[in-house]
Amino acid sequence: MAPAGIVGLGAYLPPKVMKNQDWEELVDTSDDWIKTKTGIEERRIADPDVCTSDLAVIASKQAIAAARLSPTDIGMVILATSSPDVPLSSTAGIIQHKLGCAGAAAFDINAVCAGWVQAIDVGARFAGTEGYRNVLVVGAEVYSRILNWEDRSTCVLFGDGAGAVVLSEVGSGRGLLGSWMMSDGAGSGVIEVPAGGVRTPIHSSGFEEGDQYFQMDGRAVWSFAVEAFPQAVREVLSKIGRELSEVDLIIPHQANLRIIEASMEELGLPIEKAYTNIQKYGNTAGASVPIALFEAVDKGLIGEGDLVVTVAFGGGLTWGANAFIL
Ligand code: ACO
Repeated sequence: MAPAGIVGLGAYLPPKVMKNQDWEELVDTSDDWIKTKTGIEERRIADPDVCTSDLAVIASKQAIAAARLSPTDIGMVILATSSPDVPLSSTAGIIQHKLGCAGAAAFDINAVCAGWVQAIDVGARFAGTEGYRNVLVVGAEVYSRILNWEDRSTCVLFGDGAGAVVLSEVGSGRGLLGSWMMSDGAGSGVIEVPAGGVRTPIHSSGFEEGDQYFQMDGRAVWSFAVEAFPQAVREVLSKIGRELSEVDLIIPHQANLRIIEASMEELGLPIEKAYTNIQKYGNTAGASVPIALFEAVDKGLIGEGDLVVTVAFGGGLTWGANAFIL
């Protein structure tokens, strides 16, 4: 199989900025607590009439244009999200229609914050093959709409946004070198939206408890994340036969700056080897890695020929990493 790699990138953040101080007006929290515990200073919030697919479409148009392609050149649309426009049909299908990617296959991947790692791996397996020459992979979320705005333990952590890449066949020595992915469904209750699926349908009671909203055992996620992040980086590098010292930049899921710091320390790498933008956007779940990747390339921190590792962890529990040469 010819190597598949990134030939175009895009990202979109809704313009409305919500600062930590704005949360102080709504729940019993403080700028100091949020910054000290997470590094987050502000996040973006989509307007009420804006859906996940709308953010995705803007990021995707930029990625497709950067790849010097048009929407009809796209053979497959894969969306990593856990805040879809509707429970069904797929939001990827809505994106495919809005973009005008006529004839493209489209499906969602829900692996919560680690969805990007899985989506890139699946996309790279199709990119360059008959009928699916160019694959659009998008991470997009509107978490502001699935959060409980009265639950201070979760509402201050997240933000909205989208990132996208086009994967196509690239020359040898470039592209996705490998992925490592893992899950542990025993931890599925650690991060969940308890209601709205078939277990607790939308019409039942429990809504007074806020079961329709995102819930998380933060401490359990912390313990999991600080082990999962270094493990995934080491495993993907071992799989492709590369050393940590060869990595030009790590693009981690932006869940918590303290998790990134602890994980980089565990790996024995300086924090500068990890790209971070959580300060500006909070945790954008499945969108955080592609937004960070876009920014790192846009700022010229990484370029053609660089070895990049993307790593993510989250609900499921799921975790994993991709390694690629830009
Ligand atoms: N403002 C002020 N105080 C708060 C807030 C808040 N927003 N939230 C909780 N507190 C309080 C708690 O009530 C508690 O008070 P108490 O001691 O009086 O009981 C105190 O702060 C400490 O609470 P903890 O939950 O123990 O705080 P912790 O040090 O664990 O930090 C945090 C919480 C930041 C959420 C941390 O556990 C964390 O980052 N966990 C990982 C979360 C994560 O990365 N999720 C990403 C995956 S999510 C996904 O996949 C979609």
